[in-house]
Amino acid sequence: MNPLPTSQPLQARPIAEPGTGPVGPGDAPARVDGRVKVTGQARYAADHGAPDMLFGVVVNSTVARGRIEALETAAALAVPGVVAVLSHLNRPRSRRLDLFYKDMTAPSGSPFKPLHGDTVLYSGQPVALVLAESFEAARHAASLVTLRYAPLPHDTDLLANLERVHRPSRLKAGYSPPPQPTGDAQAAFEAAAVRVDAQFYAGPEHHNPMEMHASTVLRDADGHLTVHDKNQGAQNCRWVVSHVFGLSRRQLTVRNAYVGGAFGSGLRPQYNLLLAMMAALQCQRPVRVVLTRQQMFTFGHRPETWQRVRLAAQADGRLTAVLHDAIAATSRLEDYVEVVVNWSGQLYRCDNLRLRYGLVRLDQYTPIDMRAPGAAHGLHALEVAMDELAHALAMDPLTLRLVNHAERDAARGLPYSSKELRSCYAEGAARFGWDRRPPAPRSMRQGHELVGWGMATGQWDAMQMFARASAVLHADGRLVVASAASDIGTGTYTVMAQIAAGAMGLPLEQVEFRLGDSTLPVAPVEGGSSHVTTVGSAVEGVCEKLQRQLLRLARELPDSPFSGARWSDVRFAEGAIVLRGGTALPYPRLLALAGRTHVQEKYLMLPRLLQQKKYVRAVHSAVFCEVRVDEDFGTVRVTRVVSAVAAGRIVNPRLARSQVMGGIVWGIGQALHEETLADHRLGRFMNHNFAEYHIATNADVHDIEVVFVPEDDRIVSRLGAKGVGEIGIVGVAAAISNAIFHATGRRLRSTPMTPDKVMAPSPEWPAGDGATGLPLVPPATHEPG
Ligand code: MOS
Repeated sequence: MNPLPTSQPLQARPIAEPGTGPVGPGDAPARVDGRVKVTGQARYAADHGAPDMLFGVVVNSTVARGRIEALETAAALAVPGVVAVLSHLNRPRSRRLDLFYKDMTAPSGSPFKPLHGDTVLYSGQPVALVLAESFEAARHAASLVTLRYAPLPHDTDLLANLERVHRPSRLKAGYSPPPQPTGDAQAAFEAAAVRVDAQFYAGPEHHNPMEMHASTVLRDADGHLTVHDKNQGAQNCRWVVSHVFGLSRRQLTVRNAYVGGAFGSGLRPQYNLLLAMMAALQCQRPVRVVLTRQQMFTFGHRPETWQRVRLAAQADGRLTAVLHDAIAATSRLEDYVEVVVNWSGQLYRCDNLRLRYGLVRLDQYTPIDMRAPGAAHGLHALEVAMDELAHALAMDPLTLRLVNHAERDAARGLPYSSKELRSCYAEGAARFGWDRRPPAPRSMRQGHELVGWGMATGQWDAMQMFARASAVLHADGRLVVASAASDIGTGTYTVMAQIAAGAMGLPLEQVEFRLGDSTLPVAPVEGGSSHVTTVGSAVEGVCEKLQRQLLRLARELPDSPFSGARWSDVRFAEGAIVLRGGTALPYPRLLALAGRTHVQEKYLMLPRLLQQKKYVRAVHSAVFCEVRVDEDFGTVRVTRVVSAVAAGRIVNPRLARSQVMGGIVWGIGQALHEETLADHRLGRFMNHNFAEYHIATNADVHDIEVVFVPEDDRIVSRLGAKGVGEIGIVGVAAAISNAIFHATGRRLRSTPMTPDKVMAPSPEWPAGDGATGLPLVPPATHEPG
């Protein structure tokens, strides 16, 4: 059986330009999918279609909680071209039990089931799907669907409900509960001479990748369904759709060959997928459902989060207590967890530690992972508090970090598998010119702007999951490697081809990496910055198996110079198996002599968990930034960012730099712009558009410098790589907040730091150290259990 689909993919394939140059890990070829993307040949989920395709437009609820009493579709059905209006009243049969709706990344609870019943659980919930021969007809008809609700009281206000906090009983895969306390953090805090007690608030943020979520269901002649869907794991989506509709994997293929950014929004199947499938089954026609930009605000978001960080230190800066509490919003359906506080038990050395995390259930959709989930918030609070502590100690913020640098995780005593954070600090500080920073706030001014310099540390987990890969080396020297991985814009096509090319000693343009298809060998969702460590290791592993097979073939040739050659006697370079001494047998010649049209292998990469569990495995960064603050207008410009990153071996520095830059730009958005504001009377996110939900754009982005410090970690992956992506955003907002303090002397603890807050820091977010005389809000009793 051939493990690879032999038919040509339906669309333009990413292949490197000839003469790309050196290709092994560490080289920096341009994206192999660059040409098909910029020439418009790369087809995204909504670019697929069929002549008889129906267009589906979603109708969303306008109340946050209640029951649908009446759903009026006559006017919509009267629109020429409209074929059907699907709702809970007439949808095709689907499974009922929660377990069928559970995707591989689902948190504990009861997953949302679109169009399942008459219950409305959140504002914006899909309540109907209008299907028409044209998008325009469907959109117009959708505006004519009217609903009558029996509303029920709702609550969407986290801060008003902190006393309802509960500790999540079950965490989803990949997340650990906060560690047990060590020492006596409360007593150490109270006894300390120098203390910081600060509360933080971050509003919800919504996903706004360039490509909106979309699903196109195509029907093949034999009734087989192919769904082109925007997601971060085709197999995860295939799994859910199969379960919900009772289809076997033979009846259904999910593809995500090209994804226009996802950042966590595509980890779980979104409702457009299940709606498009329902419509395809009901109408027996191809269907496309695309969410509008506004509808992108009707599924998961980065959760609204309240935090309190208490730090205590000796006069020399050594931390004597770290207390970190976080309370985040979740839905009534599921306990979405991102733990938030765990990094505070890892980054610095401290004997007295207490970390707590809790959730409040609200009438909203379940939050979803968003780039560096948990760390983006948790390290923001910790790193702003560290800056406050440095100020209270009259100590340089960088020196304070160095004094407390941890070689072991404070909570569990485990060593780091590698931690070149000191190099990040040194390299970042040197490039930024940190040693020229005057210590006092408000000491730099240029023109009408105050200038401030701030820094923060970043950390993200270095994860590895399991994956399979297959490889076929053809007689013409072409290598095809495949795994059901995703490329959400991160460069998977390129780096996997690069790893394979490097292993086999082939030019990049001779290597094709296939991904984005649920029929390919098993791969996890692309999330958590773990695709290189996971799929990359599988690719390297399958290439090694191929090499061993080639050696066997070479040994068995008549009168072979390789006869008796051992693994250690050969290497694989310049498209050939090369014997010590220099005899080289090019692969095409070897296959021809062996009478083979191709050789192929499969490989299952399993993480070495027993070894890995002995270590904390993490990626680090040191972020330095400069802001310019106009006090008259409260505007902040982030004019310079230097991020020094330690992420193991970097497979492709060009693409890795791009990942970190993107994270920094998003960090600017988190710090200054992004917040979805709810009207709690309506229980609805109000600013669901780019006019009112601001993201960082070109004018907000100035000098960004990314540097990777040398690091090599064979515990995280056989490649020595740890993964980049999430680390780019972590610490950026804290560095900006700290720079604003340095510029203005004002400490801002809620994000985004909009001009109103810069001009008048909110008294709701005090330093509760008693010095200000302000009460802690909310009262200290509202703590995670
Ligand atoms: Mo990851 S939360 O999929 O950027």
